[in-house]
Amino acid sequence: MTTTARGAASDVKDLSLAAEGRRRTEWAERSMPVLRLIRERFTRERPLAGRRLSACLHVTTETANLAVTLQAGGADVALCGSNPLSTQDDVAAHLVKDHGIKVFAIKGEDHATYYEHIRAALAHRPDITMDDGADLVGALHMIALNRLDDLAPPVRRWVETLSGVDRKALVAGVAGSTEETTTGVIRLKAMARDGVLQFPVIAVNDSDTKHLFDNRYGTGQSTLDGILRATNLLVAGSTVVVAGYGWCGRGFALRARGAGANVIVTEIDPLKALEAQMDGYRVMPMAEAAPVGDVFVTLTGNTHVLRVEHMRAMKDGAVLANSGHFNVEIDLDGLKQAAQGPTRVREFVDEWRLGGKRVFVLADGRLINLAAAEGHPASVMDMSFANQALAAEHVVQHARELTKDVHRIPRELDAEIARLKLAAMGVAIDTLTPEQQKYLSSWEMGT
Ligand SMILES: NC(=O)c1ccc[n+]([C@@H]2O[C@H](COP(=O)([O-])OP(=O)(O)OC[C@H]3O[C@@H](n4cnc5c(N)ncnc54)[C@H](O)[C@@H]3O)[C@@H](O)[C@H]2O)c1
Repeated sequence: MTTTARGAASDVKDLSLAAEGRRRTEWAERSMPVLRLIRERFTRERPLAGRRLSACLHVTTETANLAVTLQAGGADVALCGSNPLSTQDDVAAHLVKDHGIKVFAIKGEDHATYYEHIRAALAHRPDITMDDGADLVGALHMIALNRLDDLAPPVRRWVETLSGVDRKALVAGVAGSTEETTTGVIRLKAMARDGVLQFPVIAVNDSDTKHLFDNRYGTGQSTLDGILRATNLLVAGSTVVVAGYGWCGRGFALRARGAGANVIVTEIDPLKALEAQMDGYRVMPMAEAAPVGDVFVTLTGNTHVLRVEHMRAMKDGAVLANSGHFNVEIDLDGLKQAAQGPTRVREFVDEWRLGGKRVFVLADGRLINLAAAEGHPASVMDMSFANQALAAEHVVQHARELTKDVHRIPRELDAEIARLKLAAMGVAIDTLTPEQQKYLSSWEMGT
C-alpha cells in the first residue's frame, strides 16, 4: 500500500520512503563537490532570497541536491517531474519530509497526473522557472498567447478559473527561466525566432560544462546501463544501431563499442555522419541498418526516427530503446496499429508481434537511462546542476538587462565550473607564461 501526500502541499508516492531517499541523496552528494561549494556560498549570501522557483526536472538524487542548494540560496522551491517514468519516489519523499520542499511527482504517473503536477508547479507562482524539456515554459506561453486549447486539460481547467489580469500576472511574474536539455533549447529558440518568448531564458544545455560532459559521458554510460538493467543482454558481439551522432549519440556509441558491440550510426547531418565514419563506425541509412541491428537506440531529439517500415525489416527479437528527450523517436502509435501486443515480458520490456516476428520496446519508448536505470552519475550532474544554480542566480542579478531571448551562461562562469571540477578531481593544469600570453596576443611574430 502506498501513502500519498495528495491534497497536501505536495503529491508524492509514499513519505515513508524518505529515509532511503535521504541515504541515496547523500551518496550522490559525495560526488557533487562543485554544487556543494555553491551551496556553501548560497547559504552565506542567500542570492535567491524571497524568490519563488518552480522546477520541472527529473526527480533524482542529483536533482535533490540541486533543490536543496536552491533552497539554501533562499528560494522557495516547488518541484515537479519532467517525465512520468523518471521520478525516484524515495527522493521525492525525502525532499518533502526532510526539507519541506513542495514536490509533485510519482513514478509511473498517468498523463493527467503528470499535467496536474505541472499545474501545481505553475500555481506556485514562480519568479524563476527551471525546465528540462520546456514543459513549464511551454504552458506559460500557451497561457500568455491565450491558446488554452493547447494546454493539457488539468492545466487548462485551472487557467480557466483565473481572471485575465491574473493570467497576465502569472506570466509577467516570471523574471526568467533556465533550460536543461537540447530538446527544450530547440523549442525555446523557435519561440525567440517567432518573437513570442515572454522572458529571458538561460540555455544551461549550451554551457560547455553541460553538454560536453552530461550529454556525452552521462547519457553515454547511463543509456547503456538502462538497456542492460532492462534486458541483461550481452553487448559483446552484438550489432548496436545508434540513431543520431550528436553529443548523446557520440557518448553512447563510444560506450557500446567499449562493451564490444559492432556499432552502426545513422545520421541526417553530413558533418556528423562524416565524423562518425572517421571515428570508425559504419554509417548508413536506417533502412539499411534495420535488417542488421540487434539493438536500436534513438538519441536525436527528433520524431519518428524508427518507423514501422524499419521495424518490419528488423530481425526477430530486435530491441528498441530511446534516450532522446520525448517518447516520439520510436513511432509507437504506428507500431500499435501494425502489430499485436504489447505483452510485458520483463519490467520495462514490451513484446510486439509484427508479421510473424517479435520486436521488444523498452520503457514505452521513454528515456531508457532514467526509466530503467538511475539517470546520469552524480559526478557529471555536478557540473550540469552547478550551471543551473548559477543560472538561477544570474537571472536574479541580471533580469532587467537580459533581453527576451535565449542566452548562454557567461563563459567565465562556465570556465569557473571546469576549474572547480578539476580541483575537486585533484587535477592541476599549466598556466600561460607571460611570454606565451604575449605570443598568443600578438600578430607580428612568425617563423
Ligand atoms: N537521456 C538523457 O538523459 C539525455 C541527456 C541529454 C540530452 N538528452 C536528449 O537527447 C537528445 C539528443 O541530444 P544531443 O545533445 O545529443 O543533441 P544534438 O543536437 O547534439 O544531436 C542530435 C543529433 O541527431 C541527429 N538527427 C536528427 N534527426 C535525425 C534522424 N532522423 N536520424 C538520425 N539522426 C538524426 C542530428 O543531426 C544531430 O546530430 C535530445 O532530445 C536531448 O534533449 C537526453
